[in-house]
Amino acid sequence: MTLDELGTGVPRWAEAEVGPVLVDAGRLAVRVNELGAQITADYADDPPLLVAVLKGAMLFMSDLCRAIALPVDVDFMAVSSYGSATKTSGVVRIVKDLDAELDGRHVLVVEDIIDSGLTLNYLRRYLHAREPKSVEVCALLVKEGEQRVELDLRYVGFTIPPEFVVGYGLDVAERYRNLSGVHVYRGPGPWQ
Ligand code: IMP
Ligand code: MG
Repeated sequence: MTLDELGTGVPRWAEAEVGPVLVDAGRLAVRVNELGAQITADYADDPPLLVAVLKGAMLFMSDLCRAIALPVDVDFMAVSSYGSATKTSGVVRIVKDLDAELDGRHVLVVEDIIDSGLTLNYLRRYLHAREPKSVEVCALLVKEGEQRVELDLRYVGFTIPPEFVVGYGLDVAERYRNLSGVHVYRGPGPWQ
């Protein structure tokens, strides 16, 4: 990767809109492995179905599932939440439903980021209606102090300040998902 000369960890191609790295690739890898080890221990007797929410959780899911030393199944949902570009409204539309049946299985939702918590709240109710054995959540990022609903998150990667972030799967208008770290999004420049 080509880093900028100031060493902020922002690749050249993203410099115009993306701020310095908030969680770099090394810290992500360490934490994802810790989460994987914890999940391995907790579900040793009955491996879960991992359900990732596309597209934001794509990189997290691919790293997390390889950090779990159990025969887990993986499945994907895609949801679109109505709202502005950087805030969700809590009204969620299922764009791609699950392929797997949930009844009698432990489900572990793999989420990229919890902001208001409204999307997760909706998903939880939706999944519970399919009578799984349990539904727990593994969220890579949680924004400090932003939650508008009570959350019960079994696994959390990092708590971050309430800023809009991109990278490691997270986007703004579909861009910057392929940054290796999580960065604060600054918006279109000019910045100097
Ligand atoms: P919530 O319903 O407000 O918790 O928003 C959750 C969803 O909005 C996440 O799963 C993301 O897809 C998206 N989102 C929230 N905050 C950010 C962010 O800072 N960057 C990119 N996507 C975000
Ligand atoms: Mg998401």
